[in-house]
Amino acid sequence: MIQKNQEYDVTIVDLTYEGMGVAKIDHYPLFIENTLPGEEVRIKVLKVGKKFGFGKVMEFYKTSPDRIPSEEKKWTQTGIAPLQHMRYEAQLAFKKRQVEECLHKMHCDEVQVHDTTPSPQQMHYRNKAQVPVRVVDGKMEVGFYRKNSHQFISIQNFGIQQEDIDDALQVIARILTEFGVSAYNEERHEGVLRHIIVRQGYYSKEMMVTLVTRKKKLFQGQQLAQRIIEEIPTVVSVMQNINDQKTNVIMGEKTICLAGKGRIEDEMLGHTFQISAPSFYQVNTPQAEAMYQKAIDLAHLSKDMIAIDAYCGIGTITLSVAPHVKEIYGVEVVAPAIDNAKENAKENEMTNVHFAVGKAEEVLPKWQEEGIQPDVVFVDPPRKGLARSFVETTIELAPEKIAYISCNPATFARDVALFKEAGYRLDEVYPYDMFPQTTHVECVGVLYKQN
Ligand SMILES: C[S@@+](CC[C@H](N)C(=O)[O-])C[C@H]1O[C@@H](n2cnc3c(N)ncnc32)[C@H](O)[C@@H]1O
Repeated sequence: MIQKNQEYDVTIVDLTYEGMGVAKIDHYPLFIENTLPGEEVRIKVLKVGKKFGFGKVMEFYKTSPDRIPSEEKKWTQTGIAPLQHMRYEAQLAFKKRQVEECLHKMHCDEVQVHDTTPSPQQMHYRNKAQVPVRVVDGKMEVGFYRKNSHQFISIQNFGIQQEDIDDALQVIARILTEFGVSAYNEERHEGVLRHIIVRQGYYSKEMMVTLVTRKKKLFQGQQLAQRIIEEIPTVVSVMQNINDQKTNVIMGEKTICLAGKGRIEDEMLGHTFQISAPSFYQVNTPQAEAMYQKAIDLAHLSKDMIAIDAYCGIGTITLSVAPHVKEIYGVEVVAPAIDNAKENAKENEMTNVHFAVGKAEEVLPKWQEEGIQPDVVFVDPPRKGLARSFVETTIELAPEKIAYISCNPATFARDVALFKEAGYRLDEVYPYDMFPQTTHVECVGVLYKQN
């Protein structure tokens, strides 16, 4: 029987999708942070469950050739960069394997999985940070929680965010200290500031700061916002988002502008985009551009085609596709994102784009009733993938091509299998590393209707 606190010598035999090494003792799996396949280690058992347990490394006897020195212990403790100890080429291979295994599980072995496209930047690539705060010795500090706990760890260098964002967070924290803003306390559901969100346009460098507060009342909110704008010249908007719920969802429903223009602008594939606080925007801009371009190339678009962009956000894919097709229809559930999308279409002088607010699975049947007959459907859903009814309506609409951009290979493979059953074919898929040093992988593939 495996006992808690007991020590064992083990060999790591696998790596989970969460980046944990796996060792087996008498067929009982133990998950161990900061280990790689092939490594021989002494571990201490931390937790014993019915089917699996967790351990931590006490000593390395043999390390993997894929191991590199970790730069910052806090990044592993908090889960900011759980693969920082793995050579970048090995990270790319691990991500390709994830996509292959997900397709294999859904009996899609005929699909060729290409090598993962590396990110142009392996560190400091994120254009957005959302961090919790604490007051430590009278000073507001930013950081992250230790994984699976509520223990706060102060961090100055987050490693994967654009460096301007790290610098801005320190200045904002200092200003908040000067204004005497209190930090939210989860357990007691009291205090003011829950999170600071900073977003910076990759090309424009324009910055938006959003202060997420428990209540609307933020003492001297406008003066505070003005100070942030004065001290950080790239900040063009300071927003307040109110989240009064006992939840770990970061943003609440209501956002107000405290100072500045209320949005930032950025560029993707040569088009300009207005982005407001509640709107989704890809965090690794140049890599997202590469991935969109791949989807466009694989879809072989032409000027007589009708296209749909489901899950369209602020219209980044819609406007990138629009010049190549006759008409394109975008749908998105977040209303402010569609406000941005409409404005973005106008600013980029596109007249063949149409947007609707709503759930893709509800709007698609309406478009079907209106007689909109797409030749190609682009989908870029959240991690849970496509709604079953969305897949069914798409199959009824029978577009020639379905261009699928995914941030979760498991739901991607599940949805591909459904389309395959209905007579679609997927020949190849391209994984993209959008989030270096983490376990996440995005991929793109275009399904073709078989005649
Ligand atoms: C991965 S993002 C992609 C957005 C956009 N294509 C881009 O690349 O910027 C997914 C988007 O789907 C939206 N969304 C989530 N569920 C939805 C649904 N049921 N119907 C329509 N949009 C949805 C989210 O708000 C988010 O904007």
